Order: sequence, then C-alpha cells, then structure tokens
Amino acid sequence: MNTLLLGTKDEDISLAASFIKNGEVVGMPTETVYGLAANALNPQAVERIFKAKGRPSDNPLIVHIADFNDIEKYNLVSEVTEVARLLAEKFWPGPLTIIMPKSEAVPKITTGGLDTVAVRFPADVNAQRLIKASDCPIAAPSANISGSPRPTTAAHVYSDMQGKIPAIIDGGECQVGLESTVVSVKGDVVTVLRPGGVTVEDLSSVYDKVEVCDAVLNKLKEGETALSPGMKYKHYSPNARVCLVKGSDEAFCNFVNEKDSKTTVALCYEDDKEFIKIPTIVMGKKDDI
Ligand code: TXA
Ligand code: MG
Repeated sequence: MNTLLLGTKDEDISLAASFIKNGEVVGMPTETVYGLAANALNPQAVERIFKAKGRPSDNPLIVHIADFNDIEKYNLVSEVTEVARLLAEKFWPGPLTIIMPKSEAVPKITTGGLDTVAVRFPADVNAQRLIKASDCPIAAPSANISGSPRPTTAAHVYSDMQGKIPAIIDGGECQVGLESTVVSVKGDVVTVLRPGGVTVEDLSSVYDKVEVCDAVLNKLKEGETALSPGMKYKHYSPNARVCLVKGSDEAFCNFVNEKDSKTTVALCYEDDKEFIKIPTIVMGKKDDI
C-alpha cells in the first residue's frame, strides 16, 4: 500500500475523511501526539488500527469527538455524570480523556472488551476538521508501533506506518507533545489512570477529590489488573541503548566526550552544550526545569 502524505487544505481533509468513511485508517495530528484514526463505531475499521499498530486486543482505544454534543449525537455513553461534565467544561477541548460507562452503540473491540469508553475532545483544529468531515466519532491510539517512542510529527508516523495505512495528515509538530491525561470518575472521586498533558495540579485546581492510581506510581504486582490496561505494557522503548549518567556537570561532559560522535547523542541542558563535543539534543536551560 502506498501511504499518501496529505496537507491540511480542505481537499486533503476531505480525502482523509473519505478513507475513514471507507473503513480505512488515517494518521491524524492532535495537540498531544499523532493518532491512528478510524471510525470508532465500525468494528472492521477498528480492527485495522489494532493490526497496523501491532496492539494487544485488550488495550482499549480513545474515542475522539469534535463537539461535546457528539457524545449524545453518536450515543457513546450511558451516562455523563456531573463530575465528568465539570471536567469536560474545564478542560475540553484539550488533552484530557474521560472514562465513562459505554453504550451499546460502541463496539467491544473499540473498548478492548471493557464496559467503559474513553472519550476525548482534542483541541487541534485539524483533528476537529477531520472528525467533523468523517461524520463519525474517531477511535485513535497514538500512531506509533506498540512499544516504540511517541509520534509528534508526521515523519514519525510515516516511519512507523509507511505501507500500512493509506494516508497521513501532516499538521506540523504537536503542540503538547505528550499524551492526554486519562481519568476515571467513580462516585465523586476522579482518578488519574495515565498522567499526561493536564497535570494533577490542573485537575485539583478545579476539583478537590483527585487521586492518582497506584499503577501510575508503582509497578503492578504479580496478578494485579491495571485499571487502564495500557499501563501494563512497555512504552517508549527507543531502538537504541540509553545510558543515565549520575554525577557533576563536569563528570557528565567528560563522560560523553569520550564517546564516539558518530554513534552517540548526548541529551543535555543548554548550559552544558558548549562543553560537549558529540551531537546533542538540548532539553532547555537548567533554570527552566
Ligand atoms: O493523547 C492521546 O491520548 C493520544 C491521541 C492520539 O489522542 N492517544 C493515545 O491513545 O495516547 P493510546 O491508545 O496510545 O492510549 C490510550 C490509553 C491506554 O493506556 C488505554 O489503556 C487507556 O487509554 N484507555 C482507553 N480506554 C480505556 C478505558 N475504557 N478504561 C481504562 N483505560 C482506557
Ligand atoms: Mg500510546
């Protein structure tokens, strides 16, 4: 299969939407990371997402909407609680995913067999345009092969999905660059199942009963089940050896300067860059962190 790299003109969005309407999978930009988009209500289309991504079938997908009223329009959930509504009002559109009890309309394959569905209204304008043009809610996991690093550009998606999907919309680099925060709402308690673009502090500033799921902070014990199935799988495993250097700034620079500049890259602060002889990836100034 030839993978088209599309822009964001109306005709590009229409073409991508026609693929989605035909039950195909398309690379979709969002403000967090790129997603692998397909019609959330079409089981065959959703199966194609799992296949392209190599994702275990018990790991549920997030269903993306382009308007709060899409929840009702597509009959996605059996109930929107008051707390869920408050979170949606405060953080949508944006990097927050809210788990709600699913309706019959959502196929089990989309939710990995769970009775709940994860819903998100992304802030990215091109994601919203694609969802609207496709005329359906869109299931989309991050557009990387399972286990590999997060895709924040169309080029990342192309590298993992070339030949497996018909098109990718290039909407530029993702603004947030980190996945959405996944929360469940049980009774009056909001639990963070996966940390992401909306912080616990952000949530706590609008609601006082926010907890963080144990699986976020600690490794799961033998036989324990994850509330968010994705938390039990390995993530962001780069295809390279990663070495964490502990010590003074000077010791760090000396250590990396002994490495082969053709095969090694140092992840460093801007302050240290001038002392490093091998290629670097700068992650801001020490004072910013
Ligand atoms: O920012 C994002 O959330 C991106 C963009 C594309 O929207 N999507 C994304 O999807 O990161 P994915 O599939 O890579 O991660 C979704 C996470 C997984 O950990 C999954 O287990 C969890 O959400 N999840 C989905 N539905 C769930 C449900 N019903 N109950 C609990 N966890 C759920
Ligand atoms: Mg992912």
